[in-house]
Order: sequence, then structure tokens, then C-alpha cells
Amino acid sequence: MKKAALFSLALAVCVLGMQAQTPAVKKAKFHLGDNTEWAQPGFNDASWQTLDITQTWSDQGINNQENGWGWYRAHVTIPKSLIDQAETKEVIIFDVPKADDAVEVFLNGTLIGKSGRFPADKGGYSSAWSRPLTFSVKANSSAIKWDADNVLAFRVYSGNEPGGLFDNPIVVRVPARTDGLTFAFKEGKDKKGDLVGVTLANTYPVVQKGQAVMEISNPETGEVLKTIKKSVTLKEKKELTLSLPYDRTEISSVKVTYTDAATGKSVVRSYIPKYLLTPPAPAAPRFNTAAVYGVRPGSPVIFKFGVSGERPMKITAADLPKGLTLNPDNGSLSGSVDHPATLRFTVKAENAHGTATQEFTLRVGNQIALTPPMGWNSWNCWGLSVSQEKVMSSAQAIVDKGLADYGYQYINVDDAWESAERNPDGTIGTNDKFPNMKALGDWLHNNGLKFGIYSSPGDRTCGGYLGSIDHEKQDAETYNAWGVDYLKYDWCGYSREYNKERYHSTASYVRPYLLMQKFLRDQPRDIFYSLCQYGMGNVWEWGEFVDANSWRTTGDITDTWRSMYDIGFIRQAKLQPYAKPGRWNDPDMLIVGKVGWSNNLRDSRLTPDEQYTHISLWTLLAANMLIGCDVSQIDDFTINLLCNNEVNAVNQDVLGIQAKPEVIDGDVQIWVRPLADGSHAVGIFNVGPDNLKVDFRHYFKALGITSLKSARDLWRQQDLSTSDTNYFIPTHGVKYLKVKY
Ligand code: GAL
Repeated sequence: MKKAALFSLALAVCVLGMQAQTPAVKKAKFHLGDNTEWAQPGFNDASWQTLDITQTWSDQGINNQENGWGWYRAHVTIPKSLIDQAETKEVIIFDVPKADDAVEVFLNGTLIGKSGRFPADKGGYSSAWSRPLTFSVKANSSAIKWDADNVLAFRVYSGNEPGGLFDNPIVVRVPARTDGLTFAFKEGKDKKGDLVGVTLANTYPVVQKGQAVMEISNPETGEVLKTIKKSVTLKEKKELTLSLPYDRTEISSVKVTYTDAATGKSVVRSYIPKYLLTPPAPAAPRFNTAAVYGVRPGSPVIFKFGVSGERPMKITAADLPKGLTLNPDNGSLSGSVDHPATLRFTVKAENAHGTATQEFTLRVGNQIALTPPMGWNSWNCWGLSVSQEKVMSSAQAIVDKGLADYGYQYINVDDAWESAERNPDGTIGTNDKFPNMKALGDWLHNNGLKFGIYSSPGDRTCGGYLGSIDHEKQDAETYNAWGVDYLKYDWCGYSREYNKERYHSTASYVRPYLLMQKFLRDQPRDIFYSLCQYGMGNVWEWGEFVDANSWRTTGDITDTWRSMYDIGFIRQAKLQPYAKPGRWNDPDMLIVGKVGWSNNLRDSRLTPDEQYTHISLWTLLAANMLIGCDVSQIDDFTINLLCNNEVNAVNQDVLGIQAKPEVIDGDVQIWVRPLADGSHAVGIFNVGPDNLKVDFRHYFKALGITSLKSARDLWRQQDLSTSDTNYFIPTHGVKYLKVKY
């Protein structure tokens, strides 16, 4: 090719690729406080300080704990040429930074968008800090000043530190016509069966005209199973739904292609609908919980046998040891044993469909938490908006929807139950969202559940509530009076104490946790001790020394692949030596179901395969299995994930050895956990972006397998051939096996 031709080709590519947008604006004028006059373009902000809008004000040294309000004013020139070149001339788009926590955005004094809610708004303050913010404005709006200075003003309210604008800069752009189309996928049902649908909605003041094609295929073979075509004409704010039937017991892949009639350009979106692998539980009784439980001498026994099957059901034990009572209706074991002992007895469950038995061991001794705790915690769903009512509604759902029959027993209230001030005698109280903690504890125990609570060794919790410093003894006594069975003790405000120390050593980390444990152990009941300090000072090396039952090994999890991958795979890889019965590594709570850390709940953003990976990995890791969603709104996909007795049995295996990655080969990771019956749980994970075929046999040598005696698919609860070991594993998915070799 001649040089000139090469040059014009490069030029053409350059023009085509040219983004119709303004240069990114990264700085703005900033002022603390709140004054709506500051939205006006004529206001003189010359005396305001300049801040980077891609980092919060907190990260730039501004402490706004007291007030919460701050304003930014950014100056942007919007060239008329932008719209002249545009494919659609009706609308311009403002991509603006995220706002921690709530924001109103003004263009030259006109409100163009809002995210989250301010304290005085209807419904009260609500954070939407993680939401990407994009607002559209009609191109003929008088708010826009073409080829001139425009003031974009941001009125920000931060509920707690950190606060302010952050992440991405301001960009003003014109869209492609199809950018205004949103695609929302959803599973549903009609009379004939299960459906997956996609709703195309037009968010731009431009008519969308084109054709949509939806197809369902088998991602393993590529075979297209069903197709539907529809011509589309959508005015602004109008929507259209296409749907197709699908088999919910198999993985399938949905692809939607929309082609714009005017330009011929296509937009493609893909989706994996939720699919259910766990077979339904039999109607006859089945024991789903570990056959061993640890309690200290003299402590009340609070344990519920998890038995699935049709109700009514009777749960009894003929040879129940002295001091114990078993409630035949809900399978709760209570009472106490005042001396160390290993007590064995047989528990029987009967209903109209049959009988099941379990040989059970109660170990009365020093060690509790012989298997990892299973239950629920309020944080990943409600965040600081938790209330007694919300806790009870999830607890009730755990019982009503059968999750308690699978061992989910701890009901843990996280941060934001605490009173604003201590009582005159120094004891802690609750705020008005928690009218009666003792009643809550009693109610949970009467329902065969356990009660967990949260505090910090510092003056403040992470949410800014009262911590336990200087009141550790009183707080432990209060927990006992309320019937608390689990304490999550979260470092947070203790960093101020830590920072006062001149020299730091492991002792600096150990001190506050050792102190509280002494008082917990003084109580006449067993309190599971959960350390939360994000893994500092290699907590796994000394957690046992402070008699902790589990310790968080990382920072907080969120419902993205990146977060779960980092926490679950990378950060747990070397922790196998530290887990054992009574001492568990805690990679944080589950992120399946409806989560949101606030009153705004959403479906977990993990794909179905990422959720299978999440639960498989957490069971391999012998992790605390604390459900983080609003159980009152749980869907059958999430129940199916959480209630697979064979999968959960790996988590609850009494040997208590955590898995480790035995093979890391590109995108394939094989994690192996030895089990008490001599078999192994094996997770073959595909952590890469493409679907894979993985021949397990290929790794036998690396895994020390000379001959495979049996292989069982744990999710499907089916025995597999030992000769054909070539498995399809979707992107971010898993083949979860129990093998004997
Ligand atoms: C964090 C902790 C979270 C949650 C939160 C409450 O430090 O890691 O799990 O407890 O505090 O404010």
C-alpha cells in the first residue's frame, strides 16, 4: 500500500472513531454547606477551592462529618459542532461522577438529574453512592448554552464519611440513536411453563425504529433452540417485551440483536437466565445438618435439627441424654449438660412419607462451632437501615421457606441497632428501630433460631454508632441478658486507639479482641466470637489465641465478580492451614438474592454461574455461610442455591479442613477439600471470560489421582461416569464434584 493511501485510511479510521464528546473535566470549584443559590450560573465561585472530582472530598482531606453538605461547580464549554455532527440531534448526554451519597445536578440553574435521597426528602435519606450517573437533556432545552461556558452544579449530601463526587470525570456527548434503548432481562412464567423475556425501553426523545431478534441457544453446542423476530417502533418512554420459553433445569444462553433501520447498526446483548440444578427435596424426612454439635458445660443448648420433608413431622430421640429436651414439632434441642462429655444418641424424624434417622453426637466441652456457622446477617441487604421488624421478617422467612431445615440458624443483627448515648449507668441501649432486644432474642430462640449482634472495640462502629470501648464487661453482660449467641466485633473506630500507640506489633491487634473475649467467656452462655478487622496483622495466625471462632480475612465483599473473585480465590488461597473445627477463616457474607446495603434492594449482580461458583467456593472454604439477602423476598433460584444438602454437607464436614487450590492452569482452578469419609470435594472453576471444556483427567497426575473410583455431581446430585471426565464449564462457572480415588 502506498504511503498516501495508508495516510487516508488512517484518517478515515480516525474520523470514524472520533468520539462526539467534550474533553473530560476533572476539576470543579467546591464549597462546604448548602445554598441553592449556588446552582445559578451567575454566582461568582472564584473564591471557592478547587477539587478533583474523581476522588471524594474525604480523600482530599476535607472532613465533613458534622454537616454532610457540599457543592461543586464545574465549568464546561459545549460546542455546537457536537450536535451538528450527531446521528441524532435531539438529545445530549451528561456523564457525571458518582456521588457519595445523594446528589442533585443543575445545568445553568436547571435541575437535570438526581440520585439517592436527601434527609428532608419523602422517604428520608437514602444512599445511591455506587450508581453510575448519566443524565440526558433535550438538545433544544434553553438550559444549554452552546459554544459558551456552562455551569454544572452538584448539590451533594453525604450521610457519613467518605463523601463527595468520585470515580469518573464529566463528559458531555451526543449519543448514537440506539444508545437510548435499554435492555432488561427477566425470568417469568406463563401457563405453559418458564419464560425468559427482554424488555426494550426507549429512554431518548427519538423514535427507535428497527428490528429485534431474540434467540436461545445451548452454550455448550451452540445449537440455536428458539428464535423470535419483531419489528420495533418505539416512541420515547415506550417499551416492548419479547419472550421465549426455556428449560429451567439446563443452562441456556439468550442473545438479543437490535438493528436500527436508519443506520443498519446493531446492538447485541447476551444473558444467561437463572437455572436450577438442585433437585427438589423428597417428601420423606431427610436430615440436612451435621451430626455433631459442640456446647460448653452448663451453657444452654440451642440447636435445631435441620430436616426437610413434608410437614407435619415428628422429630424425637428415644435415648436422649439427661438434661436435654427435644421439641418434636420443630426439632429444637434445648437444656444443658453441666460436665464435659461426649453424648451419642439417635434422632428420628417421621412423617406420612417415611422415617429418617441420624446418629448424633453432642460434644460437651470447651470447643464450640465445630462446623462453620450458618445463618443470616442484616448488612448486605439492609445496611444501616436495619430494624427489628426487618430482622424478624427475614428470620420468619428462614423458618417458613424451609431454610432452617438446612441449618441456617444464626440471625445476626449487624450495625445500626445501638442507642445514640449510653444509659446513665454506662450500659448500652438500642435506638427506636429496635424496641426490645430481649423480646427479639426470646422470639428467635422460640423459633429454634439463634441471635447474633454487632459491636466495635473502638468508640464508634463503622456506621458511626456507639462502640464498646471502656464498656466491654457491661456490654458482654447486656448481650447475655438479651440472649445473644454470636458477636461480630468490628475494628473500625478502634483505629484511633491503635494510632495513639507509638510502636505497633501483633499485640496492638490482639489487645482489644483478647479483652472482649474474657468477658464473653464469663457469661453463662456460648457466644460465637466473630472477629472483623479485615485480616490485619495476619489475624488467621493469632485468631485462635484470642479464642475467636472465626475471623474476617479481607475487606467487605460486594456483589460483583471482581470482588468475589478477589476475596474468594486470591485472598483465601494460602489460608488452608488456619481453619479447623471451632476456628474458621471468614471471607465475608453471601451475596446472593436481593442485596443493596440500604433500603434500595436489587437482585445480586452476579450471573447464575457466578452464584454457583460463589456457593461452591464458600462451602469448599469452610466459610461462615451467612445469607446476606432479604429472605422475605427470596426467589426459588436463590433457595435452590442455598438449600442443596450435598453442597452444604461439604461446608459442614466435621473434619473441618478448608480447601486449597491444587491446580491453577490459566483460567482453570481446581480446589480440593478432604472430607471426613475419605472422599474429596473438588471444585473445577473456570475463572476466565470464555466457556471451556475441561478434561478433569488431564489433571489427575497433578492431583495425585491414580484411579478415579467414583465421581458425583454435587449440584445435580447425580453420579457421573468415571471414564468420561470432559466437562463443559461456562465462564465464571464451576463443576462441583465429590470424588473417591
Ligand atoms: C464494616 C464491616 C461490614 C459491616 C459494616 C457495618 O466494617 O466489614 O461487614 O459490619 O462495617 O458498619
